[in-house]
Amino acid sequence: MAKNVQFHVKPGGVLKGRIRVPGDKSVSHRSIMLGSIAEGTTRVTGFLEGEDSLATLQAFKDMGVQIEGPDQGNVTIHGVGLRGLKKPSNPLDMGNSGTAMRLMAGILAGQDFECTLIGDASLSKRPMKRVTQPLSEMGADIDTAEGGMPPLHLKPTKTGLNAIDYTLPMASAQVKSCVLLAGLYANGTTSVVEPAPTRDHTERMLKGFGYDVKTEKLDSMQTRVELKGGGVLKAMDIDVPSDISSAAFFMVAAAIAPEADLVIEHVGINPTRTGVIDILKLMGADITLENESTVGGEPVADIHVKSSKLKGIKIPEALVPLAIDEFPVLFVAAAAAEGQTVLTGAEELRVKESDRIQVMADALIAVGIDAQPTPDGMVINGGQQKSQVGGINSHHDHRISMAMTVAGLNAVDDIVIDDCANVNTSFPTFVQLVNQIGMTVNVVKEGQ
Ligand code: S3P
Repeated sequence: MAKNVQFHVKPGGVLKGRIRVPGDKSVSHRSIMLGSIAEGTTRVTGFLEGEDSLATLQAFKDMGVQIEGPDQGNVTIHGVGLRGLKKPSNPLDMGNSGTAMRLMAGILAGQDFECTLIGDASLSKRPMKRVTQPLSEMGADIDTAEGGMPPLHLKPTKTGLNAIDYTLPMASAQVKSCVLLAGLYANGTTSVVEPAPTRDHTERMLKGFGYDVKTEKLDSMQTRVELKGGGVLKAMDIDVPSDISSAAFFMVAAAIAPEADLVIEHVGINPTRTGVIDILKLMGADITLENESTVGGEPVADIHVKSSKLKGIKIPEALVPLAIDEFPVLFVAAAAAEGQTVLTGAEELRVKESDRIQVMADALIAVGIDAQPTPDGMVINGGQQKSQVGGINSHHDHRISMAMTVAGLNAVDDIVIDDCANVNTSFPTFVQLVNQIGMTVNVVKEGQ
């Protein structure tokens, strides 16, 4: 039987040093996907060896792609070209990863074989209509289980895919990427209009692979991206920067711990991902970017964070998609801040690996913080934490496990977080690194 992996976090800690967090999850997934359907050999360095991106890697191996590694972040992919994937003999298991399932649905919709995508308990409850709807409009033969949930079952289409002009109903890089990847296989020019800027790694990487992608800003919020099907991706080398979403736990930790002085090296600072820095700065955090450079089309920098006195703010809604994965830990920052923090316009948080609004409100309430969930956000009145009164459970969500670990810095005594094995999906070295910089976190395995 699976064990309940608990984190036991001791309060306090002085955070000092220089660290490097693992490779970016979004970029790691895309490196395998695009490397596999490119022509030639793609060499990846800094690949995230977490369960999510490893699920993507395994899926392409299952479709006949020869992939060497990962070995200390190095992966070599022998691309088979757009039409070279083979029918897998079993369903492809995407584990906990919504990104893997939704982006791969786009690629698989264009194949001439039948296949099924499955996921774990958390992924099996996440909405897939957002991708099956545009794919069906393109002519894909794709269906879901009851209520638009996984598994996804795809069959080859008789006539091939047709290009569409699609306006995203929500700001989602996963849906945008799914439609663009299906567009590679479609007859004609596919376009996607996004209502607000979302991460643009797919567009950048496609361009890196020599594919013609046009991006046009329609106004301050909306962007249109288009590409023509039937081209060729040419293999390239990819240096994956450290993941700003993993760095965010350390940014908040150093901001709220006393006398902290921490440098997180070589972090991706793509402007579609840096909302967390902007929000923390608005709250009064002391954050500076050092050694800025560009690797493989993605900007990177060392992020230097020192302790500060945070204050509550009304989070600007325009920053929400740019910090979408960082809200669990931003709620912890708000809990440690003076005054009230109000988040609105973030209903997407309810359909992540867990319902991050409800689960984080419950977790903060369990440590004595005044947190009120709302349909599209949360109101948090910062203040001193109290002894843990209720259970804290991550609900299959790695970012809840890690965010609540950071909350341990402000606790009055030990806090215990249940269901933390999921940290391996995105950040296998998390516990080692938090202990290295001065926190005290013990991993306890309970039999079930
Ligand atoms: C991701 C996009 C985001 C994000 C997810 C990774 C990606 O999801 O939450 O962790 O790599 O494209 P949405 O696009 O659904 O908001």
